[in-house]
Amino acid sequence: MKILHLSDLHFHSDNSKNQDILSTLRNVEKNYPDHIIVITGDIVDDGSEKQYKNARDALKTFDGRVFIAPGNHDFGAIGNFYSREKADRFDEFLSIPLNQGGTFLRENKPVVNVKTDESDIVMFIALDTNLETYHPFDFACGEVGEFQLAELDMLLSNPTVPEMKKVLFFHHHPFMRNDPFMELKDAGELARIIYNRIDVVLFGHKHVMDSWKNRWGVPYMLAADNSPGKTSAGEITIENGALSIDHVKI
Ligand SMILES: [Fe+2]
Repeated sequence: MKILHLSDLHFHSDNSKNQDILSTLRNVEKNYPDHIIVITGDIVDDGSEKQYKNARDALKTFDGRVFIAPGNHDFGAIGNFYSREKADRFDEFLSIPLNQGGTFLRENKPVVNVKTDESDIVMFIALDTNLETYHPFDFACGEVGEFQLAELDMLLSNPTVPEMKKVLFFHHHPFMRNDPFMELKDAGELARIIYNRIDVVLFGHKHVMDSWKNRWGVPYMLAADNSPGKTSAGEITIENGALSIDHVKI
């Protein structure tokens, strides 16, 4: 199974401003027809209905093989001003039409999808890391929150789950500290829950591609660029239980 990691698409209302991401997605559709696509948030730029419609129309072609998590821009203007109405649109326009198997704002549990190919069973676990308060300093940074953490812990304790490879993904960067607009406040609690229990962690938010090996007891952790206009993306290969990462042209 091959997985392509995209992030921070920032769809605008005016499709003439979406040409870079639309062209990237056309290339992905043509060149990677069987890849699973994981998108780690900021799918739209400020949560307007038109932006969500543009994103849904562009992503619908990947239905069944695209998995998404929300970012701060999906839930509010300039990524700083949380709006419950905009947050709810993420589920209405993306999670439900793209058959994510769960909702983010509405249920707020980890959204889980399992994909199988000849050699592997892979569980995709998406988290909503938006700290949903109305204060701009709170909202721009992230938090998994007690409820989602407890649900994640319970999910990973299920006896059938250890047999699968597990890809965990979310928007906020877990290694940033002391930055009121970026940090994931409960990164330490998340690290304790996933230690030695997850195979790959994917995230975005900072718009800088990077990768880490064997941090938090996780073999691979990958940060993605903002995908519009970029020429490469992270690719994860899972084959007969073996993991590898690469960067491929998009
Ligand atoms: Fe972001």
